[in-house]
Formats: sequence, structure tokens, C-alpha cells
Amino acid sequence: MLPSTLEAVLYAVIVIAGWTFCTWIYNVFFHPLARFPGPKLAGMTQFWKGWRYLIAQDHIPKLFELHKQYGNVVRVGPNELHFSDPAAYGELYHPNRRWKKDPTLYESMTEGAGSWNLLDYPSAKKRREVLLSHFSRKSILDLQHVVQEHMDILCDVFTDHINTTGKSVDLTHAMKCFSIDTITSVCFAKPINATWSPDFKSPMVLAMDRALIILESMVYFRWLRWVVSKLPPSVMLALTKNLEGYNEIRQAFSRQIESILADPSVLSSAPHPIIYHSLLTDGKAYSGKTSITGSMSFNDLSEEAFILVFAGTDTSSNTITTGAIHCVENKDVYQTLKEELRGAWPNLAERPSYEMLEKLPYLTAVIKESLRLSHGVVSPPARIVPMGGAVVSGYAIPEGTIVGMSSCFVHYNESIFPEARTFKPERWLGPQAKDLEPYLVAFSKGSRNCVGMNLGYCELYIAFANLFRRYDLEFDGVSTADLKWVDMYVPLHVGPDMRVFARPVSS
Ligand code: HEM
Ligand SMILES: *[C@@H]1O[C@H](CO)[C@@H](O)[C@H](O)[C@H]1NC(C)=O
Ligand SMILES: *[C@@H]1O[C@H](CO)[C@@H](O)[C@H](O)[C@H]1NC(C)=O
Ligand SMILES: *[C@@H]1O[C@H](CO)[C@@H](O)[C@H](O)[C@H]1NC(C)=O
Repeated sequence: MLPSTLEAVLYAVIVIAGWTFCTWIYNVFFHPLARFPGPKLAGMTQFWKGWRYLIAQDHIPKLFELHKQYGNVVRVGPNELHFSDPAAYGELYHPNRRWKKDPTLYESMTEGAGSWNLLDYPSAKKRREVLLSHFSRKSILDLQHVVQEHMDILCDVFTDHINTTGKSVDLTHAMKCFSIDTITSVCFAKPINATWSPDFKSPMVLAMDRALIILESMVYFRWLRWVVSKLPPSVMLALTKNLEGYNEIRQAFSRQIESILADPSVLSSAPHPIIYHSLLTDGKAYSGKTSITGSMSFNDLSEEAFILVFAGTDTSSNTITTGAIHCVENKDVYQTLKEELRGAWPNLAERPSYEMLEKLPYLTAVIKESLRLSHGVVSPPARIVPMGGAVVSGYAIPEGTIVGMSSCFVHYNESIFPEARTFKPERWLGPQAKDLEPYLVAFSKGSRNCVGMNLGYCELYIAFANLFRRYDLEFDGVSTADLKWVDMYVPLHVGPDMRVFARPVSS
């Protein structure tokens, strides 16, 4: 009676449904991780986690709930465990434990081999060495004027804005613009000039927020990635009108790479060392040499450029905005910070150096506390237990298991940071403060920690010093209670933007 194709489809559906059902049964009762506690649904299918990220958007609060119920280790996916003891963080991300990154997260939205998505340590190590020398402390000290120049541009816009309109500024987006202009300047000597966008609503910055949600979706729907990669660019553009800025910047980077590959001598006209001096001259630091050794493909270069912009924008700007808002709200912190800065930087016209700012104890405490409460990356950086298995936090974990721990569980731990949810720079001062250092994990730890840490710190010092020395800051209708975020790998802010009145001080 049934046409044979329909019959075939029917059988296929039955087979797939049966197979899925058997997988669930296997996962819950017979999987090597079946002995670990956690929600049954999470053990059954990875869509439990997908649901938490994309639909319920309560991933981190849910993890806190689960650890309260089940203890230090929770099975959060068929093949995945999450830990909560701060000591476990040090074990998972130990410099000697060079575990592979989990491809479902790190390859979810990438087109070439970049430092962030090179999965195994030996291949990542080579790239990291080149970048680490490019972003070394010494290089950043030499490039600090670039950071200060972008801060000055931002301050000009702030001052002009209050003078002409009398209104508040959107600090959330302003800092994103500052970070993206700084990173594109430092890496490519080509700032995208986001800071000049009306009300700081740069199309690129807006597109990056949307891209985060797409990245998280691709983790669960890998076929989506395949579909997207097959679409002609024109269709892509029409479908994703809101990713306009994203495509634009990707193309701008590609054009720069093309022009350098076509004529390496253009490198010598750059005003300061850019990443291609390091990436294209076999890891040698800038020396005017421009021999192209070609160990990286065009796609790899373009991917690396993109990763640096992504990794260096939301992370820094989120730390500045979060920290600044807490300083504005807490009058004691605000006054202490301003006094320290006024003392160390008496003449407004003479910009202090980064080295000098670094030595200021209260500013340093404010920056550490800002990093603690903004977390860097909030998703658990997923790693794969190598052959032979491993012991983590006293548990024997089978090989191939995905393990991770969100930095929030270190930063919010009450035994390490009493009143953990409160902004208290004082905790970083005094003799016991040294003991807290290992628990500041905003840049992560170990073999895959942040390669841009020196630049990150430089941006933080220059931003906090300039904002609080050059302006009187006051809230406009918001407070720290409005600082709400969801886990989209980095914290994606879902509350209202942080608006402040920024009134320039006269001296
Ligand atoms: C306050 C600023 C920053 C914070 C809090 C931060 C935080 C982090 C964290 C937590 C990771 C580890 C992510 C993971 O394992 O999944 C990371 C990796 C990375 N960061 Fe940063 N970052 C900051 C600024 C920057 C800047 C300015 C750059 C660019 C120069 C940068 C480039 C990178 C790269 C390339 C990686 C990947 C390293 C690897 O996988 O081996 N970051 N960052
Ligand atoms: C802004 O206004 C203040 C005082 O009203 C003035 O001193 C300052 O020069 C003005 N700045 C700019 C950039 O217009
Ligand atoms: C940014 O501004 C600078 C200086 O005005 C200019 O040279 C550069 O072309 C601008 N970049 C872009 C991407 O518009
Ligand atoms: C906080 O850290 C301590 C050890 O430093 C640990 O015993 C405790 O379980 C942690 N608290 C939570 C809620 O994970």
C-alpha cells in the first residue's frame, strides 16, 4: 500500500528514534560517567546544556544550584563533568597539564587555525610563542602610547558630548569601542574608529554581541555551521543583515593580509610593530625584515586576526565597565581612588606612564577587584582528559571525558573571598592579600591562559586612571543592580546599558 520511498523514510525514522533511545539508556545507566551525580537529562543528552545556554539562559546560576545539591563534581553532559572546588581549577588548568581543548566549543565558529582554536598544545605552543613575544611586557611598554591615544580620543568624545548635549554617555558601549579601537590599532595599526560612532553604537561592536549568540548556537547545532559555510556571501548578508559590521571587518582584515602578502615591503611602513611582523617573519620580532616564510595559510592569518579582535574586545571592556560602575556606586572607593590619582597625577596635561600607574596600590586593588567580578570568560574552558585518564580533585576521570570549571566558582567562593559578591578593593591590600593572587583567574591559568594579558592590564590601568582622574562620574538612572549578564562564553550583558554623566574636572 505504502509507496516504497515513504516506507523507507518510515523505517529510517524508526531506526533513528530507536538508536537515540538506546543512546539515552546507555548514557544514563552504562556510560563510564554514569556513576557521577547530576541531572538525569544532562547525562542523557547534550541538549540539556544547550537548553540552559540558549533558551533558559541560566547556565551559571544553574551550575551553582547543582553543585549545592550534588557536591564538588557534577555530570553536566553525557560525556562532560564540571567541578566547583577552587583547588580543582588549579588542577584542570595547571601549566603541566596540557590537555586538548574540546572541539565542540573551540571549533564552533572558525575558518582557519588560530591560537584560540588550535586544539592540541604542541601546535598551539608555536603560535602562542610568537604572540606572547609580540604582546610581551616590553612590547606593551613600547606601545602604551597607542592605548593612551585611544583613551584621549574617547575622552574628547566624552567632553564634547557633555558640553554640547549635557547628557550622559553609554559607558558600556563606549568601553567596547575603546577596546576594539585599541586592539585593532595595536595589532594592525588600523583602528576601526568605532569610538566616533553616534552614541558608541558601532556596527562592528553590535555585530560582535550577536555573533556570540551564534557561536553558542553552533556548539549545539554543528550542521548550522556547515549550512552557513555553504551559503553564498550575498545570501548570508541578506539573511544576517545584523552581521553587516562583522563581515565588513573580516573583509578589511583580509584586504590588509592580501596587500602584505602581495608586497611584504609595506610592513616597513607601519608606524609600530604589528602582528604580521611577528607572524610572517618566522617568529622573529620586528627588525624591518619582511621575508615571508609562509608557514601560515591565508585563512590562518585571517582567523588569527579575528581571534585577537574577539578575544581583546569584550573581555577588557567588560572589566572596565563593571569595575567603573562599582567605583561610581561606592562613594568611599570613588573618593579613595580619586585622591590617589590626584596625588600621583597632579598636572592634568601631563599624562602619566603605565609603569607609574602600575605602582599605585589602590588603583591596582580596584583593577584586581574589577577582574574578579567580571570573570574574563564565564563558560567553563572545556578540556579533554588524555589517554589513560586522570585524577582531578580526587576523582578518577576516564580518558576522553570533557572537563571544565567556570572561573565564577573561584571568584565567588566565600571562603576565599568573604562577601564574594561585594566590590571590595581593600581585600587586595594588606599582608594577607598575597594569598589571594592564585585565585584571581580572569585570564585563566596554565598552558592555554590569555596571551594578551599584558595588553589587557595596560588598557585597564590607562582606562581607570583617565576616567577617574579626568572626570567626575555620576550614574544616570542605573545602578550595579542592573549589571545583569548571561553566559555566552564571555558574559553577555542583558540589563540596560550603564549610562553615566562624565563631567570633565577643571584641574
Ligand atoms: C581584561 C582583558 C582580558 C581578559 C580578562 C582575558 C581573558 C582570557 C581568558 C579567560 C582566556 C582563556 C579562554 C579559554 O581557555 O577558553 C583567554 C585566552 C586568550 N586571550 Fe585573553 N583576555 C583579555 C584580553 C586579551 C587581549 C587584549 C588579547 C589580545 C591581544 C587576548 C587574546 C587572547 C587569546 C589569543 C587567547 C587564546 C589563548 C589560547 O587558547 O592559547 N586577550 N583570555
Ligand atoms: C567644555 O566646557 C567647559 C566648561 O563649560 C570648558 O571649560 C571646556 O573648554 C569645554 N570643552 C570643550 C572641548 O568644548
Ligand atoms: C580611522 O581614522 C584615521 C585617522 O583619522 C584614518 O586614517 C583611518 O583611515 C580611519 N580608519 C577607518 C577604518 O575608517
Ligand atoms: C570554597 O572553597 C573551599 C576551599 O577553599 C571549599 O572547601 C568549598 O567547598 C568552596 N565552596 C563552594 C561553594 O564551592
